[in-house]
Formats: sequence, C-alpha cells, structure tokens
Amino acid sequence: MTTGVILPVLAPTVGFRYSQPLEFNMITSQSLDYVAILLFWVLKASCLDTFIAAVYEHAVIFPNVTLTPVSHEEALDLMNQNLDLLEGAITLAAKQGAHIIVTPEDAIYSFAFSRESIYPYLEDIPDPQVDWIPCNNPNRFGRTPVQERLSCLAKSNSIYVVANIGDKKPCSASDPQCPPDGRYQYNTDVVFDSEGRLVARYHKQNLFLTESHFNAPKEPEVVTFNTTFGKFGIFTCFDILFHDPAVTLVKDFHVDTILFPTAWMNVLPHLSAIEFHSAWAVGMGVNFLAANLHYRITKMTGSGIYAPDSPKAFHYDMKTEEGKLLLSHLDAHPRPRAAVNWTSYASGIEAPSVGNGEFNSTVFFDEYTFLELKGITGNYTVCQKDLCCHLSYQMSEKRSDEVYALGAFDGLHTVEGSYYLQICTLLKCRTMDLHTCGESVETASTRFEMFSLSGTFGTQYVFPEVLLSEVQLAPGEFQVSSDGRLFSLKPLSGPVLTVTLFGRLYEKDPVPNASSDFTVQAPRG
Ligand SMILES: *[C@@H]1O[C@H](CO)[C@@H](O)[C@H](O)[C@H]1NC(C)=O
Ligand SMILES: *[C@@H]1O[C@H](CO)[C@@H](O)[C@H](O)[C@H]1NC(C)=O
Ligand SMILES: *[C@@H]1O[C@H](CO)[C@@H](O)[C@H](O)[C@H]1NC(C)=O
Ligand SMILES: *[C@@H]1O[C@H](CO)[C@@H](O)[C@H](O)[C@H]1NC(C)=O
Ligand SMILES: *[C@@H]1O[C@H](CO)[C@@H](O)[C@H](O)[C@H]1NC(C)=O
Repeated sequence: MTTGVILPVLAPTVGFRYSQPLEFNMITSQSLDYVAILLFWVLKASCLDTFIAAVYEHAVIFPNVTLTPVSHEEALDLMNQNLDLLEGAITLAAKQGAHIIVTPEDAIYSFAFSRESIYPYLEDIPDPQVDWIPCNNPNRFGRTPVQERLSCLAKSNSIYVVANIGDKKPCSASDPQCPPDGRYQYNTDVVFDSEGRLVARYHKQNLFLTESHFNAPKEPEVVTFNTTFGKFGIFTCFDILFHDPAVTLVKDFHVDTILFPTAWMNVLPHLSAIEFHSAWAVGMGVNFLAANLHYRITKMTGSGIYAPDSPKAFHYDMKTEEGKLLLSHLDAHPRPRAAVNWTSYASGIEAPSVGNGEFNSTVFFDEYTFLELKGITGNYTVCQKDLCCHLSYQMSEKRSDEVYALGAFDGLHTVEGSYYLQICTLLKCRTMDLHTCGESVETASTRFEMFSLSGTFGTQYVFPEVLLSEVQLAPGEFQVSSDGRLFSLKPLSGPVLTVTLFGRLYEKDPVPNASSDFTVQAPRG
C-alpha cells in the first residue's frame, strides 16, 4: 500500500504565511511577543471545529462519439464545456463560504469509452509529493490543461476542489503487466487545495465491469491529506463495496471525512445512492461527501452530505435534467460513536420454529428467505444459514393493497461483482404477489409507527438503511443501539420502502484472480 499524502495547510482565512511573521531580523522581546500572538492566532485559525462542505451533482455533457478516438483539441473542447458548468458550481459554493467541493466521477468527459477513445482525454498526473500548483506553473509536467484549469479554479476561489479525471502512465515490456498498448490508464481523483496545489491523487481500485478502458493500480492506494478542518480520505464509486482502500482509510488511517466522486446507478431496494452512501457514513462513523453524476437514462442521481449521526443534505431527482449544488456545515472531527455489537440483541432472541410460512424470493440476483408481515403489529424472526433477523414493528394501518416482508440473506453475491453479504431487510413487495418481494419499487403507502430490526451478524461492518417512499431519507428518525438494534425514534415521516441492515463479510470475499491480466491480489490492510 502506498502511504498517505502529507501536506501542512494553513487556513485560507489567515492572510499571511508562516515565513512572514517568522522573518524578523531583530529579535526583541517585543517582537517575540508579537510572534507568539501571531502564532496563537495561526494555530487557532488553523484548527476549525466545523467547516462548510459542498457537493455538486453534475448533468454531464457527453461527447458526440465515445467509441471513435477524437483529436486532443476536440477532447479538450468537450472537457471545457463540462468544466464551464463545474466552474459555476465551484464559484457559487465558494461565495457561500464552502471550504471544499466534491464533483462527480466521469463529470468532465462522461463514460462508456474504449481504451483508445478515452486516450485523448487523459493527462499525466504527477504524484502530489512533487509539490505543484499547476495554475502557477502550467507546463512543468507537459500538456495538462485540465489540471491547470482545476488548480486555477481552486486558487482563484480559495476552495479545495475535488475532481475526477483520467491519468496515463507509459510502461514498457520490462513490466510483465504492462498492457499491449504500452500504457496504464487510470480512473483518477485529484484534489487541489485552496492555493491550487495538487494535494491528492487516487487511482480507483475497484473498477466497475464497464470500465475496461481503465486499469486498476497494482495495489490499493490509501490516499489521505490533512487540512485545518480535519483529515480526509478519498475513494471512488464501486470502491465503497470493498475493504480496500475504503475500510482501511477509516479503520487504520482514522480519517474524519471521505470524499466520494461517483457515477452511481441506483438499484432498489438496497443500493440506491443516497440510501447506501448515507448508511456507510453511519456504519463507519465518518463524514461522507458523495457527488453523483446526473443522468436519468442510467438511473444516475443521488448526492449528499452525510454525517455519522444523520444526513445533512441530500438530493435525488428523477424528474429533471438539472445539476444541483448542495452545501452543509459539518463537524471537522465527528465524535466517535460508541462501538456497536451487531449480534448482541438478536442472539438473545429465541430461534423460531422452522417452516412458518417462509418463502424464497430474489433481491438483486440473491435468493432471500422471507416471511410475510401479516398483522398491523408483530414480532418476527427469519433465518438463513448463520444469520437470523428479528423485527418488531407497528404499522399505522394494515393496508389490503400492500405486502411487506422480513427477509434474510447470508451468502456470496456474484452479479456485477463478487462480495459476501449478510442482510436483514424489511421491505415493501412490488405487488401483492410474494414472488415480487425484493423487486424494485419506488412508492409505498404504508406508514410505520415503530420498528426495531436486528440480526445475528458475523461482522462489525453493518450499514443501516432506512428508505421512504419516492426514494427519500429519514434524517433524525432512527438510531442504532450499542446492542445492534436499528430502531425508529418516532413514527416515520413517510411510507416505508425498506429498513435494512446491510452487512459485509469482507473476509469471505473471493480472492481476486491472480492470473487475470492486470489484477494483482492486494494485501489486506
Ligand atoms: C495529520 O495531522 C495529524 C495531527 O495533526 C498528524 O498526527 C498526522 O500525522 C497527519 N497526517 C497526515 C497524513 O498528514
Ligand atoms: C457535436 O456535434 C454538434 C453538431 O454537429 C456540434 O455542434 C458540437 O460542437 C459537437 N460537440 C462536440 C463536443 O464536439
Ligand atoms: C457481542 O455480543 C455477543 C452476544 O451477547 C457476545 O457473545 C459477543 O462476545 C459480543 N462481541 C463482542 C465483540 O463484544
Ligand atoms: C428456498 O431456497 C433454499 C435454497 O436456497 C431451498 O433449500 C429451500 O427449499 C427453498 N424454500 C422454498 C420454500 O422454496
Ligand atoms: C413483541 O415483543 C415485545 C417485546 O418482547 C412485546 O412487548 C410485544 O407485546 C410483542 N408484540 C407482539 C405483537 O407479539
């Protein structure tokens, strides 16, 4: 694994640099006092308790062609059209006091390229240790107009800018993994600080199926950087489902805030963007800044600013073609939550007698064991393999036109990625037919007065989801107890689509195939 990027940063509000107050020619006791006072203010100003975060959901402008290579000029022209829109968001965010803004994955050139057709869009992105402000020194690493523009946007607006662009690195036959076309191509997040300096570069590890135009780095990169408003870590889109680098950043590198550029296709009931990303913030106890692309045709929408205790701002829009800027205050150092034992409560519940009307149904290609919720109130337990899920609930009314079920899944998910899941879920079935339980449904009418969901999880990595009708979150309406119950604090403000404990057993994931061309097994952090 690579080490974090370490760069000291002064608060943008401090109008001088260390070198100025410290460059005294005559040291007198008076000037020492002066230095002490200045340093006091520097230190005070350089440690903020809260900051303003911004995320921008961007309606990307697509190239006219994505599979035929275009010239560098045409590529840059398209990228500048997208950068014009990002500039509007960055300027507006800065005017409203934001310290940092996250823009989405693929926001500058879109997606669905081939290896050859993405190439004109790529730039050589150096290791941030070179200490480079592209805006001040644009030609130091060859032709890098996109990095220059992003750096200048950060500098002229005094705001940290997080963006996603493509990196290219030549390689030769002496490297046995060097692709036949002689170069690595990386899906890359970059961060420019408020002076325009490149402070972070992260190459996406867990590429999605459709990203064959990019290579994964040989080892997961753990990229962090310090600011006056907390310690940051960064990863991209599909990375969120895997251990490295996502979990390592939180568990071993103790970041306060995750930066998350994404191009996320919503999948109900459990993997809608705002639902899963806010749940990850709760489960891992970090701030999470998610900026999604806006493109309804591939169901890409859903961005948010999530604190570990509650979503602060979120946006989901399947109705318009518009981008959206979100801003919110966040704690720079969110208080660590008391540890949760995710099996404690449920393991004390008596196991049910088997064959109590259980049925099977498929949720996103996985076969769950379900029980129908028959009463307006009740206590149910359903088990699959090692996982038993327990639910207590009370509905406001038991409608005759809607069916809800409690489901359990304990197994390896194998479609669009292989990852081991343990999931307890209360969900609304798509129709009255029980075989539609787990199919995508976006609206509901049944309100819940209370719920309490728990399970006998074999992992500490459980992400609690609550999703209301029309794909809305329920900030401040539920909590997790230290004995592993996800429970409502009050009657929910809208009808329920799902209440879910989404558990990941990373140690049961298949080992990446060491024989495949460009994938190397990564060491576990
Ligand atoms: C960040 O700052 C903390 C405390 O100020 C320090 O312990 C840590 O080494 C720094 N880490 C990085 C990656 O800069
Ligand atoms: C796409 O094609 C249209 C019409 O030919 C043209 O006006 C536009 O500039 C092209 N866009 C790009 C990014 O090349
Ligand atoms: C969690 O709770 C269970 C059941 O009460 C107990 O057996 C187990 O030791 C606890 N785990 C931890 C890590 O404390
Ligand atoms: C449900 O699926 C399991 C295998 O996953 C099978 O053993 C069981 O018989 C099925 N139950 C029903 C009711 O079809
Ligand atoms: C469910 O369990 C709780 C606590 O054990 C109990 O108070 C309640 O009466 C039960 N509800 C039903 C409908 O059985």
